[in-house]
Amino acid sequence: MQKFEWSDKLKVGVPMIDTQHKELIYAFNDLSDAIESGNGTSAIKKLLTFLKYYAEWHFENEEGCAARHQCPIADTNKQAHARFLEIFSNLQVEYRESGASEAIARQAHQQLADWLVGHIMKIDTQIGQCISHAKSTSQA
Ligand SMILES: [Fe+2]
Repeated sequence: MQKFEWSDKLKVGVPMIDTQHKELIYAFNDLSDAIESGNGTSAIKKLLTFLKYYAEWHFENEEGCAARHQCPIADTNKQAHARFLEIFSNLQVEYRESGASEAIARQAHQQLADWLVGHIMKIDTQIGQCISHAKSTSQA
């Protein structure tokens, strides 16, 4: 299972957002470790519980910032978050129906971790630039 190093490529330049992204990435790395050591079945419950609160809360924070600073990509970002929550909700349904398993742990990692990293690099970095720019001009 792939693990993700925190690096400048993932930094969006807004400390609050970067901190929250780090938490999310570390949670997926924990899942990855658990899968590698055969503990995916117990780790998946922890991940789903964490994401249920943290992902939505993080998206709300980020969307709030993007809206306040009138970032042109704010809507695209919102739609992308909705897509994540849809994938997440499908996983929750599957988890409820079939229970915890190594298979669902792997599926969660594949579907959500890759999405997250791609999303941060493609969209959140632009949100970050917009917010940083808005802040630097408003302080000038
Ligand atoms: Fe985002």
